[in-house]
This record gives sequence, C-alpha cells and structure tokens, in this order.
Amino acid sequence: MPLSFKVVNMSSHNNAPLKILFTASEAHPLIKTGGLADVAGSLPIALSNFGLDVRLVLPAYPDAIQRSAPLQEVTSIRVPGFTETIRILEGRLAGRIPLYLVDAPSLFNRPGNPYTDASGKNWSDNGLRFISFCRAVASIALNHAELGWRPDLVHCNDWQTGLVPALLSSEWNRPATLFTIHNLAYQGLYDEETFQSLRLPPEFWNPAALEFHGHCSFIKGGLAFADWVTTVSPTYALEILTKAFGYGLEGLLQHRASRLKGVLNGIDYAIWNPASDPAIPQHFDTNSFNLKYINKVRLQQELGLPVKEGAFLFGHIGRLVEQKGVDLILDVLPGLIRTPNTQLVILGSGSPELEKALHQASKQHPDRVAVFIGYDEQLAHRIEAASDCFLMPSRFEPCGLNQLYSLRYGAVPIVHRTGGLNDTVIDVSPRNLLDGIATGFTFDTPDKNSLWRAVERAIQFKNRPGVWWDNLAINGMKQNFSWDTSARHYLDIYQEAIDSPAPNPIADITERI
Ligand code: ADP
Ligand code: GLC
Repeated sequence: MPLSFKVVNMSSHNNAPLKILFTASEAHPLIKTGGLADVAGSLPIALSNFGLDVRLVLPAYPDAIQRSAPLQEVTSIRVPGFTETIRILEGRLAGRIPLYLVDAPSLFNRPGNPYTDASGKNWSDNGLRFISFCRAVASIALNHAELGWRPDLVHCNDWQTGLVPALLSSEWNRPATLFTIHNLAYQGLYDEETFQSLRLPPEFWNPAALEFHGHCSFIKGGLAFADWVTTVSPTYALEILTKAFGYGLEGLLQHRASRLKGVLNGIDYAIWNPASDPAIPQHFDTNSFNLKYINKVRLQQELGLPVKEGAFLFGHIGRLVEQKGVDLILDVLPGLIRTPNTQLVILGSGSPELEKALHQASKQHPDRVAVFIGYDEQLAHRIEAASDCFLMPSRFEPCGLNQLYSLRYGAVPIVHRTGGLNDTVIDVSPRNLLDGIATGFTFDTPDKNSLWRAVERAIQFKNRPGVWWDNLAINGMKQNFSWDTSARHYLDIYQEAIDSPAPNPIADITERI
C-alpha cells in the first residue's frame, strides 16, 4: 500500500505547531517488553524534530517512574469504575518530550512485566487496568485533567490504548484519533461480565463497536472508532485484510480500508549504531567491517563457546512465542550441527516449553549452541554486533525491528518473506548484489525445509572466495531505515485525520435506539 508524499501543514490553527498526544503501554528506555517500546520511545522524538508539539502518556509502572525521575505531580483525576484518585506525574522523555505518567499504584505498581505476573500469566484485572488508563488518557485529551493543553490528535498504539478512540467518539469537541496496530494477534478480549463491570456505555456492546463473538474487544475500540488506522508495514497492511492474518477482524479492516495505511517503522540510529554503541566491545562501520569479528570473539568468550574468529555465527533475539518461529530454528539445528564451523546464539524468554527445548539444545551441543534465557538489552546489542547472520523465521511479523538492527550491524538477516520482513530485506542474487540492492536471504513458507534451504544458501554464500559476503553485509549496513521518511507519512495521516473525521460507527445505531 504505497504512500505518496504531499506537502504537510504541520500546524493547527494560527500556525501553532500541531499538538499530538502519543500513548502506548510501553516506551524505551522507561519500560520495554518488545518492539512497541522501541517505537513509542523513538517516534515521538522524530515527530518533535519536525516541529510538532508531542507529549507521551504511559502507565506509571515502577520502572517508568524510576527511569524518568525527576517527576512532578501536576494534577489528579477520578475516572469512572475506579475508586481511587489517579495522580498525573510529569517528566521528560530523552530530556525533552513532555511525559505524563498515569499513577494509579493499585493498578500499575507491580513487579516485573506490564501485562503478566512472574509466572507469565496475564494479570487478572488487565481489563480494569487498561480501561482506567484509557479513561485517564481521554481525560488529558479533552483537557478535563486541566493540564492547560489540548491535543489536535491522539495517537494510540495497540489494544491497551484501543478504548481511547471509543471513549472520545461521543465528545463533540474531541481531538482526532489515530490507532496503530503493532500486532493484531493481541486484542485485549474480556467476557461480557467484565464488560459490564467496566461501566462502558451499553451501546458499545454491539458488533459495530466493541463486541466480538461474545467478548468485549479493546482493540476494536481503535479499529472501529479511530479516524485513521495504521499498521507498521505496507505488507502487513495488506495481510491483515485476509483471513489468514486477520484473526476474524479482516471484515472490519476491509470496511475501514480507505482509512488504513501501512507505515514502516523506523529505528533510532542514535541507539543502534555499531560505530558508537557503548554496549559493544569493538566499534565498526562500513569502512571498518573487518573489525566486526572482534565482537564475535568477545561474545564467544562471554558465552563460553569455542573461540574461533572463522566460525559462522547465527544469532536470534526475541520473545519466545509461536509468532517468532523459534521452533523452526530448533528444527534446523541438526543441519547446523552437521555443518562444520557453525555456532548459534539465542537470547529470549517466553514459552516455558521453548525455554526448556533451547536449554536442552545448548546442553547437548555446548560447543555449538549458547542460549541465554531472560531479557538483556545490552546482550541484544552484543549479539547483533557479533553475529554473521540473524535468523528471523517469524510466521508473521507486522514490522520487526531486529532485522533492521541486524542490517545496521552487518548481521545478514535470513527471514520469512512476510509483513515488514518482506518490506525490508531483499533476497540476494549475483545481479542485485552488484547493484547494491541485496541485503539478505528470504524464504516463502515458514517451515523447516524452507528455512533450512535459506540457511544452506547463506552457508554456501559465506564459503565463496573473495568479498561476496562482506559486500552483502555492507549493503545491509548502508540501508537507511531512520524515522525521517516514516515520520513524514504520519504527519500526512495526522493532517488527514484532523481535516476529515470518520463517522461514528454507532451513531446510526444510537439514533435508531
Ligand atoms: P516484537 O515487538 O514482536 O517483540 P520486534 O522485532 O519488533 O518484535 O522488536 C523486539 C525488540 O525487543 C527488539 O528491540 C529486541 O532486541 C528486543 N528483545 C526481544 N527479546 C529480548 C530479550 N530477551 N532481551 C533483550 N531484548 C529483547
Ligand atoms: C509488534 C510486532 C513487531 C513490530 C513491533 C513494533 O510487537 O510484533 O513486528 O516490529 O510491534 O511495531
């Protein structure tokens, strides 16, 4: 779904900068479980570089409070369905983007993950936690929280913020709304009893609104009510219109297709830059690619693998969930082990079964496989810097950031041609390598044989004499996936959403009632 540029008027009335309230449930470096945090921590900065007045609002998790100190309480509010007073704390993201933390300790002051308890089970009151958050965001958006600032548009991200467009829809003086889908697989579904307990307007219990096969769907609040909907790559924007990727929401998305666009994520090259990354032992760039191997040697030492600068090191980092296809990596492991001189490093956490299987693999092949179960941001940087190849056999991938980090770090990606992976990695052929276009290896079906064929192609390519491999890796390092282009696309969409609000999907129904 290609986007065309047009001249953007970046101001609201009287040439004042456009005011955007950006909201998500996580943002790097305050709190992170995946790529959503990378986007919410970097896109607001890119937008503010274009002169927009952007403010970020997040739940006040303990890590977020600690990492954004000093904070100041600026106001307090009450929201329906939650008995305690909510404090709004103000700080700064990256020292400059105004940041509001929604401080409701009984909802958000919990150890560990924002969504799950220590055993990985969803917190049982997630419905209440995130509707209360959405109500607080809506209150800020309408200036009911009296912060003396009223946004022109609220940019919501994923199901945790999905109810914001729905809650704002009936307000005559509401700001425009944009909802970005980072992953349609996570929808925030709750039973009817929970819906009632959340004190949502009864007319929302309707298939045109939040009702989804007998459940209340938070993500539908965004998909049905937002003025515009975006997702994080052009290919995923097409995929989610199909049964295979739509999770039953494809009909609604088709209905909204004229206000649905795919905008590829950018990455923050200030954080992910092998020439200056403080987390990696040896800096390198396209002119000093020959130094990259030092990172490999240091990682081998760190993780207890045999130290061999000539080893062919495969890396993988990610949430251990079905989406990411780590089981396929385990399926091709025998082939990797049979191939002399290969090593595999995996960093991830998630499904206990996959964690166990990975542990077993590293125990069985300690000289070939190193596994680190857990979450370690710095180690993720060191793996990107050390790896020759990065494996990403995701079954689906809305955008994917790791392949973009891999490209920058000269870790040639091997990816399933889906979603954002299809939009960012170009399969190698002798011709497009010479043209400087090829950047990796792609395969069409997420199964063991297809992944293995791609891995074999990479191994053969690596064994070619001369500088073929280096040229391929350096091509990848030269790609530009900074936010500049994508942030411009968002500016376009913000303006369209502000200029032409979408009709309220249940206005008709309410009138008939
Ligand atoms: P997703 O958002 O689906 O998890 P992405 O590729 O968009 O996938 O982003 C994942 C982000 O989370 C990357 O920044 C990646 O480095 C990071 N990440 C995932 N798992 C871990 C982990 N175990 N340790 C450190 N970083 C991780
Ligand atoms: C999601 C997707 C991932 C995407 C990230 C940031 O978690 O799974 O593909 O890169 O969000 O948009």
